[in-house]
Amino acid sequence: MESGSISQITVPCAVEIPGPCGLVIFGASGDLTKRKILPALYRLQKGRYLPERFFILGASRTEMSADDFREKTLVAVKNAFLKDFDPSAWNEFANRMEYCAIDYAVQETYAQPLKEKLLQLEKKHRTGGNRIFYLAIPPTLYEGVISNLGTTGLSREEGGYTHVVIEKPFGRDLDSARRLNQVLRNSFDEKQVYRIDHFLALETVQNILMLRFANSIFEPLWNRRYIDHIQITASETLGVEQRAGYYEEAGVLRDMFQNHMFQLLALTAMEPPVAFGAEPVRDEKAKVFSSVKPFPLDRLSDAVVIGQYGKGRIGLNSVPGYREEKGISEKSVTPTFAAMKLLIDNWRWNGVPFYLRSGKRLTSRRTEIAIHFKPVPHLMFSNTLNEPIEPNQLVLRVHPDEGLSLFLQTKNPGSEVCLNPISMDFCYPKDILMDAYEWVLLNCMHDEQLLFVREDGVEKTWSLLTPVMERLESTTRADQFPNYAAGSSGPEEADLLIQRDGRAWRPL
Ligand code: BG6
Repeated sequence: MESGSISQITVPCAVEIPGPCGLVIFGASGDLTKRKILPALYRLQKGRYLPERFFILGASRTEMSADDFREKTLVAVKNAFLKDFDPSAWNEFANRMEYCAIDYAVQETYAQPLKEKLLQLEKKHRTGGNRIFYLAIPPTLYEGVISNLGTTGLSREEGGYTHVVIEKPFGRDLDSARRLNQVLRNSFDEKQVYRIDHFLALETVQNILMLRFANSIFEPLWNRRYIDHIQITASETLGVEQRAGYYEEAGVLRDMFQNHMFQLLALTAMEPPVAFGAEPVRDEKAKVFSSVKPFPLDRLSDAVVIGQYGKGRIGLNSVPGYREEKGISEKSVTPTFAAMKLLIDNWRWNGVPFYLRSGKRLTSRRTEIAIHFKPVPHLMFSNTLNEPIEPNQLVLRVHPDEGLSLFLQTKNPGSEVCLNPISMDFCYPKDILMDAYEWVLLNCMHDEQLLFVREDGVEKTWSLLTPVMERLESTTRADQFPNYAAGSSGPEEADLLIQRDGRAWRPL
């Protein structure tokens, strides 16, 4: 396949700097803070995107001084930005950091030292009472911390905004998600709640809406009349890494489908919102979730395939199977791969299957949405062309090689009728892309909930998946796994799932 032209953006558009605020990170000594949150904040500092009047108050159970906290952060930041560490940006950043130890379960510690320290910092940095509480803590602690923020009055908005940021998982099934939402509602208003799905903050994911609704050429084709089917893929080469405890409980359906995969589905399938704002966009996404046809529990294998990786090779390296990884049970039935076919019961998508697949330890790392258009209705070249014409595809690449490709047919020069498949490509240059966590933090400071998940979105996706997970959990036997080798494209059954419909997955 030839590549037609490659189009690029060279100058990004301006980033609006948010107003003054203070950020409290619960779980300040934890892994998420070290790997994602603090490096993202440092990078915002380096790019001069943080407000002038801003501070970070780290809080966790670990007893340490503010200097220790800064020292640990310095190591994390240097690890994340080995080549382009900037000492002067670091110094400015470090001056904004403070720390206090807190026992999450003990209400009194929220008043003293937390609130006291917070008030001091707000006075010193003149942040006007705008506060963000970022819960970078294990989900088992969410309910307690949220309730304590409520009962101690810290959730109230007094003079400025108060936002609470929560990481996934939002519960582990429909009941627990409802309970967590109720706990949040008892202390916060929905407009204060920022549920992160970091996929939504990826530039390429945000671009789905721009592509669909800022171009008039796609929307008329974006329906059952012109689209044959849609494939959404998120494949990873990484295995379970150091997250055995979490992953054994979650598995791929909770880890990737309830959130990231379903969000990609919603952005691809939703109707045009009335405005580009948090509520209209989230209303339309919720309608997509409500229109997804419930999975056929009595014939579940027609619609859902799960798998678990065995040992194999990723590139040149031999890697262990899931059950051989540290902290994983030898008889684990946790799925590390899933593929599913789902249908959206509405006017636009009637009869168009959406095929979703995601897995760990697959042959390549790739997240993409591929729109497969229908073949041309009449083959006027049939007497001269021996091969069928490949239907057009539009592939939105979330990563790597962020961008998109449109696959077309063109005539090859010469007197014979000879078609030449080409692709027209657009690539985002890597150095102008902001990291998802940078966007998450900026948007939360801007009071902008568009990139965050609303409570009904969470509950609707759980209500689709909970019966599926319950059925699979009660029927999957240990001897069914492993059923794909690390470094492969997933289990054979996943190929059959789509082949039964006369289609094939895009190669990984
Ligand atoms: C996370 C999942 O939400 O997303 C991980 O918990 C997964 O298991 C990750 O690896 C994928 O996101 P990214 O941005 O690393 O591709």
